[in-house]
Amino acid sequence: MKKILIASTLALLFSPALLAETAPVSMEDQSQLPQAPKKADGEAYHQPPSDSEIPDNAFGDMIRKGQAIFIDTKRQVPEYVGNGMNCVNCHMDQGKMPNAAPLWGAYTMYPAYRSKNDKVNTYAERIQGCFEFSMNGTPPAADSEAMTALITYSYWLAKGAPTGVSLPGRGYPEVPQPKDGYSIERGEIVYKENCAICHGNDGLGQKVDDHYVFPPLWGPDSFNWGAGMHRINTAADFIKANMPLGKGQSLTDQEAWDVAAFMNSHERPQDPRLIDGSVEKTREKYHANDGVNLYGVEVNGKILGQGI
Ligand code: HEC
Ligand code: HEC
Repeated sequence: MKKILIASTLALLFSPALLAETAPVSMEDQSQLPQAPKKADGEAYHQPPSDSEIPDNAFGDMIRKGQAIFIDTKRQVPEYVGNGMNCVNCHMDQGKMPNAAPLWGAYTMYPAYRSKNDKVNTYAERIQGCFEFSMNGTPPAADSEAMTALITYSYWLAKGAPTGVSLPGRGYPEVPQPKDGYSIERGEIVYKENCAICHGNDGLGQKVDDHYVFPPLWGPDSFNWGAGMHRINTAADFIKANMPLGKGQSLTDQEAWDVAAFMNSHERPQDPRLIDGSVEKTREKYHANDGVNLYGVEVNGKILGQGI
């Protein structure tokens, strides 16, 4: 009798509904990645193994599962995703592309020590962070099958890469802030000319059969205010290297910053770390020292960061 009571109390304590309310935000600290070294002339980027080399056994099955989740996240693991995004939208070419935050550049850099808060973060925690903020979702547990699959896929892509060495092509290459700053108004013009054709005039992306073919850049189905991409500097880095699609490096640094600022001057889902319902308090704790961003800042007479 006693045993049953304890078991049911435990079950209640760990029921998903309660956990969702009380679980701490995974990897609260979403601070920027350190810049990777530049590739030397003639040096090649790390080359991940090709898909045809994936073995035909349980290991290969797990790699393929991770790859499928990475590319088609929303359909494969809807329980963890709260918006319309897939991992591959920001980690391009199946997580293989240098300068688009490739998984092979990430895997070997964890566990990562952060002197700022004197903490060690595991690779699983880093992935949980992207589920929580970039996917605006509920992260899978560290020992869940989805997490095992994503880690196995990353391990496979990093085959032959040295552990603990920041490789050229990791993250997004930094585009320094232009000396005159940035302009949201100019960014709107860059957007109309270079981006709207795919991401839509309203920035909400384009769908076929309920599935985004061009991901949203803001609005309810986009990444939330806590995601790394909400920083204008990080978005400028990504955009300069990778957008417009297939024409990376075609924008000037100024255009990349302007259009990143325009994109991030729109509303998106709330930062899940919101403190006491206060944008001001949340800005002070999490945004004031997080690169360049507009959370809690007044733009066109409105304080951004209200969430959707
Ligand atoms: C030819 C179509 C096309 C054009 C033009 C284009 N994009 Fe994209 N963009 C995409 C696609 C497709 C993805 C997702 C990539 C993937 O899944 O492989 C993407 C991804 C993104 C992302 C990351 C995912 C997200 O939704 O937040 C951002 C940010 C972005 N684009 C910004 C821009 C900006 C800014 C411009 C204009 C300078 C631009 N894009 C022009 C097709 C395009
Ligand atoms: C909206 C864009 C976006 C989406 C979607 C996204 N990420 Fe990320 N991811 C980022 C950004 C931005 C960073 C940090 C890059 C930086 O700060 O320079 C990052 C970092 C990472 C890292 C660490 C990279 C490193 O080199 O240390 C991993 C691993 C990762 N993401 C995995 C995932 C997985 C798995 C998914 C899907 C569940 C996902 N991401 C979805 C934008 C995104």
